[in-house]
This record gives sequence, C-alpha cells and structure tokens, in this order.
Amino acid sequence: MTASYEVRGAVAVITLNNPPVNGLGYATRKAVAEGVARANDDAAVQAIVLAGAGKAFSGGADIREFGTPKALAEPNLLSLIKTVEASGKPVVAAIHTVCMGGGLELALGCHYRVAAPGASIALPEVKLGLLPGAGGTQRLPRVLGVEMALNMIVKGDPVKSEVLAALPGQKLFDRLIDGDLLEGAIAFANEVAARRPLPSVRQLKAVHPEADAYFQFARNTVKAMAKHFPAPARCVDCVEQAVKAPSFDAGLAYERGAFTALMFTPESRALRHAFFAERAASKIPDVPEDTPQRKIERVAVIGAGTMGGGIAMNFLNAGIPVTILETKQEALDRGIATVRKNYEAQVKKGKLQQDKLDQRMALLSTTLSYDDIKNADLVIEAVFEDLGVKEGVFKALDEVMKPGAILASNTSTLDVDRIAAFTKRPQDVVGMHFFSPANVMKLLEVVRGAKTGKDVLATVMAVAKKIRKTAVVSGVCDGFIGNRMIEQYSRQAGFLLEEGATPQQVDKAIEKFGFAMGPFRMGDLAGNDIGWAIRKRRYVEKPNMRYSKTADLLCEMGRYGQKTGAGWYDYLPGKRDAIPSAAVVEMIEKHRAELGITPRKISDDEIVHRLVYSLVNEAAKILEEGIASKASDIDMVYLTGYGFPLWRGGPMNYADEQGLYNVVQAMKRFAKNPHDDAAFWQPAPLLAKLADEGKRFN
Ligand code: 3HC
Ligand code: NAI
Repeated sequence: MTASYEVRGAVAVITLNNPPVNGLGYATRKAVAEGVARANDDAAVQAIVLAGAGKAFSGGADIREFGTPKALAEPNLLSLIKTVEASGKPVVAAIHTVCMGGGLELALGCHYRVAAPGASIALPEVKLGLLPGAGGTQRLPRVLGVEMALNMIVKGDPVKSEVLAALPGQKLFDRLIDGDLLEGAIAFANEVAARRPLPSVRQLKAVHPEADAYFQFARNTVKAMAKHFPAPARCVDCVEQAVKAPSFDAGLAYERGAFTALMFTPESRALRHAFFAERAASKIPDVPEDTPQRKIERVAVIGAGTMGGGIAMNFLNAGIPVTILETKQEALDRGIATVRKNYEAQVKKGKLQQDKLDQRMALLSTTLSYDDIKNADLVIEAVFEDLGVKEGVFKALDEVMKPGAILASNTSTLDVDRIAAFTKRPQDVVGMHFFSPANVMKLLEVVRGAKTGKDVLATVMAVAKKIRKTAVVSGVCDGFIGNRMIEQYSRQAGFLLEEGATPQQVDKAIEKFGFAMGPFRMGDLAGNDIGWAIRKRRYVEKPNMRYSKTADLLCEMGRYGQKTGAGWYDYLPGKRDAIPSAAVVEMIEKHRAELGITPRKISDDEIVHRLVYSLVNEAAKILEEGIASKASDIDMVYLTGYGFPLWRGGPMNYADEQGLYNVVQAMKRFAKNPHDDAAFWQPAPLLAKLADEGKRFN
C-alpha cells in the first residue's frame, strides 16, 4: 500500500504512505488517482483530504525512478495533478513537516491547502540540476508572486510554512493549523465542501509590473551565481513564461520541455549522483543500520594545535561539551585564543550571535591532566604526527579512560592498527581524519582498523552526522582514500613541470576544469614543507617511487608558500594573490636541462586528464583492495574534501561519464611518455575489467 483510503464522515482521506518521505513513485501516484476517483464515485463523500503519513507530506517525485520507464508510466505526475485539479469534489492538501518538489506541485494542484506550522516548503529541483517539472514554475508564482517564487525556485532552499502563510496577499495556504493537522484539515474540508466554483491555481494570474526589466536582472544575477549549472537560468525562463505565455497550458508545456532537457545534462546526472552518494556514504555494508550505538555526551581532544581547536569547535557547535588536554599551559592558551578568534570572526560577519559565542565557549574546558578527561565518551587525539608521541598518548588513554570510551586518532598518515595496538582495547580505537580547517571542511574520513568494533563505527558515523560532517569510511592504508590518491595527482603535477608546463599553466587548466584550486596554489596555501616531509619519508620507504625533484628544490630555496611570502608563486606582503615567479621558472628550467628534457607545449587537455586520471587509477586500486567499499564513497571524499567540481560528480563519476574504455586508452597513451611513470599508468585491474565489460564504476 503506497496510499491509504478511508472515509471520515463526509470526507475521504487519502494518505500518501511511501516511506521514507512519500516520494511520488508510480505505485503511489496510481493509488492517489484511484483514491480521487473512488471519492468522486461515492455519493456519501463531499470532499477529499490528501495527507502524508510519517515524516513528510511528500519529498517530491521519487528520484530513484528517474531515467526508468516508471517515471513516465501513467499516471505520471502531470496527469495525476490534472486528475486532482479536475476532481468534482474539493481536494484539500494537509501539509506537514516536508512538502517539496513534486509534493508541493501536487499540493498546488489541489483546490485548497492547509498546513501545520514548521513545515519545510521548497521546490529544490535546482539542487538536482533540474527545475520543477510538474507545474511548479507556473503555479508557485501565481500564489506567492513572481519574485518570491523565482527566489525559491532558483535557490531551492526550504521556507517554513508559517513564514509563507504570513506573506501579504499569498494564496499558497488557506489556513495554518495548530494542533491536530488531520482533524483540522477534515474540519476545513467540511467547511468548504459545498462551495462552488472550485478554486484553481491555474486560473490565477502571475504578474509583474516591470516584467522585462525584472527578468533581465534575474538572468544576470543567475548567470553570475551559477555559471557551471544550466538549471537556474532555465528556471528564470520558465517563470517568465508563467507571466508571458499565452495560456497556462502553454507555460506548462514550456516547463516540461525545459525539465526534460535538463534531465539529460551531465550536470544533473552529477548532482543526482552526489545526492545518493552522500546518503550511501553513511551506510557501511557489514554494519547493520540497527547496530547499537554508544552514548556520546562528553568529548575530549588531545592537542590544541591547528587541528585540535577546529575539531573541538565542531562539537561545541553541536552543543557537546569538550575538554582539551595539552602538555603545556601556553599551548592551551594559544589554542583557546584561536577558537575564540574564529568565533569572533563569525560574530563580526554576522554569522553568529554573541550569546551563542558565549554559550559555546562555556562548553569548552581545558586541562593538563588525563585524570580530568577519564569520563569522556569520545576522545580524539590530534598531537604531533609522530608514532612515538601517539604511543605515549594512547598508552595514557588506555590507562585512564572509562571502559567503553571511543579512542580516535586524527592521524593523516600513520597506521591506525599500530596505534590501536598501543592499547588493550583495539576494538575501541578508530581513525577520525578531519580536514583543515577542521571546523569548516565537510569531509571526515572514518578509518576502520582491523579490530574496530562495529558499534564504534556506527557511533562515529552518527556523531559525524550530528556535527554535520560527511563521513566516509576508509580502510587502513597509507594516506587513506583522499591523500593516497592526491599523491599520484601531485606526482603528475611535478612531471608536467619537468616536461614543459609552468605552475600557473597547470593550475589554470585544472581550475578551468573546475577544481577550486590547482595543485601549486594549493601547495602554497597548505605549506610546501608538509609534502616535503612526507616525500623524505617516502624516499626511504618506497625507493622505487619516482617524484619530480622540483618541489624539493623549491623548499630548499625556503619557498614554503604563503606563510614564507613565497612558494610556487610570489606573494606581496599580507596578500594572497599568486604572482608568477621568475625565480621558480628559472629553477624549473635549470632542473629540466639537468634531466636533459627538451620542453614541449603541453595542452590543457593533457594536463587535466593526467591529473584526473591519476586519481581515477589509484582510486580503482583503493576500491579493489576494499579500502573504500563503493566508488561513490570516493566521489564524496573528493567532492567534500578536495574541491572536485560538484557538477562533474567526483572523479569516478567523471570517469564514468568519459567512458571507462576511453579512460583506459588515455592511460595507455600516457604510459608511452618516456618522462612519465609507465608502471603507474598500467590501468588498475578493476578499471581494465570494467572497461572491457563496458561497465561503469557507479
Ligand atoms: N525520492 C526518493 N527518495 C528520496 C527522496 C525523493 N524525492 N527524497 C529523499 N529520499 C530518500 C533518501 O534517499 C533517503 O533514503 P535512504 O534512507 O535509503 O538513504 C531517505 O529518503 C531520507 O533522506 P534524508 O537522509 O535526506 O532525510 P532527511 O530527513 O534529512 O531529509 C528531505 C528529507 C528533506 C526530503 C531530503 O531527503 C531531501 O531534500 N530530498 C530531496 C527532495 C527533492 O529534491 N525533491 C525534488 C525531487 S525532483 C521532483 O520532484 C521533480 C518534479 O518537479 C517533477
Ligand atoms: P600542531 O603541531 O598544530 O598541533 C599539535 C599539538 O599537539 C600541539 O599544540 C602540541 O603542543 C600538542 N601535543 C604534542 N604532544 C602532545 C602530547 N603528548 N599530549 C598533548 N598534546 C600534545 O599539529 P596539527 O597540524 O594540529 O596536527 C595534529 C594531528 O592532526 C597530526 O596527527 C596531523 O597529521 C593530523 N592532521 C593534520 C592536518 C593539517 O592540515 N594540519 C590535517 C589532518 C590531520
């Protein structure tokens, strides 16, 4: 049953019942259409209430059906709305909690709408690279006015029902109902049962006194806002039709055409992929969703450095008390001052209220003694990246922490299993790899050790949601998912310099592809000395792995990046603008000459594909080794932690879009380049197999 039917006095109640959010899939649409017909056939019924069971009125069209014949099967959403609109007896939508997308469009096809306060109302299709395709762009402007409706459609953000109900002249809601919504909706339906003619949104007019100027302004704004996404501009076109089309149905047909065209764009495919990938990331194949979780009410953080303070802020923001432990009072004072400064900056920008700042700081305490943290439910270690130092910390934690406490490490390169082995409770040890700045970056790699308990994993994933991180599980390996891949990308960036490119050419090409920042600008921001330290270790551990020496030569020149005023680029004092550096170009040319390489002109296309496919090849190995459990997890890591362009859906989705056969062919070409790493470019067996079989990663 996907919609139930019952008669309460003179009112038929049709209740959408398609968990989790009453998506309007085929079976649900059919059940609603049948309910409307049945109510119209029943002489005892005078009016109809359309309600939603569970945690939503409706979250909209069933996204899972997109691209399948079910999405179009009759009754499709448009024809269902027509059926509702044509009902001879009034239909009242009873809206609570969530009314979005096709759900709102269905409600707009009803004759009346009543709502509970606090319901989230939205046309969020634009976030999936689409636009409302079942009349939303035509009906919402008719009930809310052109400007309010266009804003909602272009942004896709929810607005609360009581806010919309309070708008002067609005015709979206006929009544706001405090208390029992269904009872209130039935009472309303009885009140209006005999009124004729039945009201209909299609008969209203969408008007704007200066339509041409307004739509031109809207077009310019949208163009600047969403240059990589086609949907927002098409939203403007459709709303313009609500004002200018010769008839309601002409506007509807225009909207349908635009919706269908967007459905086939790679941008929409990428956004829909990201929507599901984000939700899939929280599911771990062998950890059932009902795994019991541990209670996390108090958190301790060890180390008040760059990461410790940011990590603490995440919990303070969620109202969870934190104690930070350090070895020296000065380090604590510095750490706390940084946390306070970060909050004060937010207050200054108007993003946080002063009383919130005070509340958050009041949840923060500090200590130099392990005794003060022994009752914490979760402790996150963020001390120096040195196994010896971590050993001392984890042995101390093992001594003092209460049984059942989760012991997490924020290590970015060390072996979580070795860290777990410093304790007598490896089942309680897990990696929580935050990204810098830890209070801002969405990504959290949850590193699952060989002995990490399933309940620990389930708890950490739930905690991540509470602190609004996108958590992705990674197995233990050098660099985990994200940094292991980025190492290959950085190596390629170095080889490109040796072969003839400049740092700014590489950065420009990959930024044009859509990365937030190219590898060299990124190195300057993060500090080139960090990579240098890692490479020095690699030269010992992996003597056969070749790196370009240019990055080491740069560090030998003292050019660590923005913090030293010079890196791959020059920087003016106090400024962050990257200025091409003659000294760096000279260093690269000299090194090239020493290697005996004749520089060649390298196309942007080659730069992009060498960088991105190096990520893809390493990712395929990561997948094959089981370090990541699904390709979409890898996409989430890159979308939320590494600035991969959202409209390309992550490296795996990008490779799928290019066609894995083509990706493999490109790798074979790269392998022939005598200055590159031929062994690395052997396509990973999983990639080769999928390409052979004509399959995709996702
Ligand atoms: N169709 C199918 N499944 C949906 C769905 C939808 N429209 N919306 C959410 N779900 C699923 C999610 O995939 C997830 O499934 P899972 O448990 O198997 O992973 C589950 O519902 C719960 O989702 P959330 O974790 O996001 O739950 P929240 O309670 O945090 O949020 C929500 C609920 C606000 C409805 C949020 O899921 C959301 O924003 N959904 C997208 C809504 C949307 O974009 N609607 C427009 C669809 S397109 C459309 O209607 C086209 C039309 O104009 C023609
Ligand atoms: P940091 O050097 O800024 O801070 C480390 C802090 O730990 C210092 O304040 C130090 O006084 C304190 N400390 C050292 N030994 C201690 C001990 N025995 N007990 C208590 N406190 C001690 O280092 P950062 O950058 O914050 O890194 C911390 C950890 O986070 C490392 O494991 C690092 O690999 C990891 N990490 C760092 C990222 C970054 O971008 N900086 C990103 C992700 C992870």
